Amino acid sequence: MRRSSSLVVLASVVAFGGLAVELPRDTLPKELPLAPPYGVVAKDEPAPAPPDARLVELGRALFFAPELSVDGTVSCASCHHPDHGFADDEATSQGVHGRRTARNSPALLNRALGASFFWDGRAATLAEQVLQPIENPDEMGAKLDDVLARLAKDAAWSARFQQAMGGAPTRERLATALASFVSALWHGDTPVDRFQAGDAAALTEEERTGLWIYESKGGCWRCHSGTNFTDEAFHNTGVGVKDGVAEPGREAVTKDANDRGAFKTPTLRGVALTAPYMHDGSLATLKDVVEFYRRGGNANEHLDLDVEKLELTDVEAERLVLFLEALSRRVPGEVESGAKRK
Ligand code: HEC
Ligand code: HEC
Repeated sequence: MRRSSSLVVLASVVAFGGLAVELPRDTLPKELPLAPPYGVVAKDEPAPAPPDARLVELGRALFFAPELSVDGTVSCASCHHPDHGFADDEATSQGVHGRRTARNSPALLNRALGASFFWDGRAATLAEQVLQPIENPDEMGAKLDDVLARLAKDAAWSARFQQAMGGAPTRERLATALASFVSALWHGDTPVDRFQAGDAAALTEEERTGLWIYESKGGCWRCHSGTNFTDEAFHNTGVGVKDGVAEPGREAVTKDANDRGAFKTPTLRGVALTAPYMHDGSLATLKDVVEFYRRGGNANEHLDLDVEKLELTDVEAERLVLFLEALSRRVPGEVESGAKRK
């Protein structure tokens, strides 16, 4: 892992099969709020059932455990960094044996509300998703059965599974524990939520202008919609288009040519934490993202009709970035778990 200095939280050095590697350390608060923070779920919508705290604890330990990779050099956190909104600070991520991922490691915030997983939505549930990185040759490169045998043989891990789940490590238990932890990674209760709940002073005038552009001529709300700022749907914005030709994207899953180059709309909550952006990590800053939309994305045959050249002044483009940053700040102090937005 080569990380920029700000991110080098020199982590536990783990010796495993003779290899010494540095892995990201668990810097999260001791107690994770299990229910969604204020604003993330609308009042008239059901909140997902909070995961079991014991499963979250076990999943948390597994998320930071290099034992899930073939040679003990990579943990989930290697690519989904806790100090970076559970994304990576590089466009693509390094897996085992120096291999690299094909796509950008996405943020893992508010994924309990996800309708599908991966940039092209090829996994239907979190529990289905979380085992795949273990076997992906570009990520952890292991065989699931070998990992389960390794955990079962280890007295500490097998005791942890026994205590949390009443049995030995199995495919299902591993998936449930990891998915429970990922479901507890929330981002909400931002100044934007307070403003929308009626606290006019929660946003500066510049941030309010940015919110207004998001809601009006920026057109962002068309896809980054609802209280989690995503429609959980797939759109072709032209990211990754080369010589006018889009990558397959969602088409690889649906086999429908109309889905060519479409990728899942990510949440905008916490987005200032997770640069670089887009499924290929091709845009380095939020300013670059706004400039991308300003020029109307990248032309290609299947460009979404909601992506058009925007008439924004330079000042308005800056305000839009300020709004995205406000949506990434948590209101200090109060964490009103389970609270909803009107
Ligand atoms: C080597 C880097 C790497 C490792 C290790 C890794 N991931 Fe990922 N993760 C990625 C990339 C890249 C994607 C997106 C791949 C795609 O969409 O094709 C992803 C996608 C995801 C998603 C989907 C998020 C969404 O909203 O669509 C989840 C959840 C996830 N990873 C959890 C995990 C867990 C749990 C582990 C450990 C078992 C893990 N990852 C290990 C790189 C990694
Ligand atoms: C047509 C639907 C659509 C519209 C309109 C839209 N977006 Fe997006 N947005 C997406 C999709 C889809 C992606 C992922 C694209 C990809 O990686 O291929 C995305 C990605 C992003 C990202 C990167 C997030 C990340 O985690 O990498 C940001 C930031 C963003 N959009 C902000 C905006 C802003 C600001 C606007 C308004 C100016 C906007 N979007 C308008 C669909 C849309």
